[in-house]
Amino acid sequence: MQSWVPFVPDSASTMSWKVDAVYFYLSGVTLFFTLLISAILVFFVIRYRRRTPYEIPRPIAGSHKLETLWTVIPFLISMTIFGWAAKVYFDQSSPPKNAMEVYVVGKQWMWKIQHSTGQREINELHVPIGKKIKLIMTTEDVIHDFFVPAFRVKSDVVPGKYTTLWFEATKTGKFDFYCAEYCGMNHSGMIGSVVVMESREFDNWLSGNTSNTTPAVAGQQLFQTLGCVSCHGATGEGGRGPALNGLFGRETQLVGGQKITADEAYIRESILNPQAQLVDGFGPIMPTFQGQISEDQLVQLLAYIKSLQANSPQQSAPASSPAAATKPSPAPAAK
Ligand code: CUA
Repeated sequence: MQSWVPFVPDSASTMSWKVDAVYFYLSGVTLFFTLLISAILVFFVIRYRRRTPYEIPRPIAGSHKLETLWTVIPFLISMTIFGWAAKVYFDQSSPPKNAMEVYVVGKQWMWKIQHSTGQREINELHVPIGKKIKLIMTTEDVIHDFFVPAFRVKSDVVPGKYTTLWFEATKTGKFDFYCAEYCGMNHSGMIGSVVVMESREFDNWLSGNTSNTTPAVAGQQLFQTLGCVSCHGATGEGGRGPALNGLFGRETQLVGGQKITADEAYIRESILNPQAQLVDGFGPIMPTFQGQISEDQLVQLLAYIKSLQANSPQQSAPASSPAAATKPSPAPAAK
């Protein structure tokens, strides 16, 4: 699907027109000055042509008025470009708080996607129309880049950290996504499509496969098998590590007085490199899990820790009840 302007991809998210507006403004400014300068050039060539072979022009010493004009006007124009584009960039890079979360793991050469209700997909991403979707992304190997031209969103996927990307689709249908960072032999084949569906259709799709375990429940099981639970009770049982209930998104005081907010990056680091940012009041006794758990498992642990909000059921909730351990999901939770 193509838009009415040649070479411009279909426009299918709330971000599209904002990016297009900046782009058309830039093109308009460029076109205007190209035409203006060309016209003046041609006019001057004719108007000030040499009329006799020995003609010597009158010397010009400079003009402060002209110099001021051609400094101030371009400055103002470039500031409108900067201000406007920065506004759009901030919109793009700050995901709304109430967005529906989807986990994306890149790997040579495919995209692995998991919904918070447990459904997994490869090289396909099903989403409902008119809903804010936040992708939490990482990679198992090298840098990739998740790019959906029709949504005008794009973000690098970097080893060892989480990056995010958000969008709200405004049209149903299939929209291509690409890997936009050269990542080896089959980089060009690392493609897929976002399938945007009506809400009801999406709910059906989501409940179609009920045997899946949600990432939060898988993370809870992992939490038990890895033995994390013996030190880190949700409410501080165990006593050797900080309580995890309500931890996500909270400000935490570290040894040495520094304060940080417990976000995805912090939790990831605390699992892989526990000594790096110790919580005040606890000793450096946690072993590292670097190399022992996969990116998928890290995502599950993260989903579990995020699900431990202060008012949610504790980690003693039965593992067979995903609904009890996950945040409210936008679709009827799988049984
Ligand atoms: Cu992955 Cu290019």
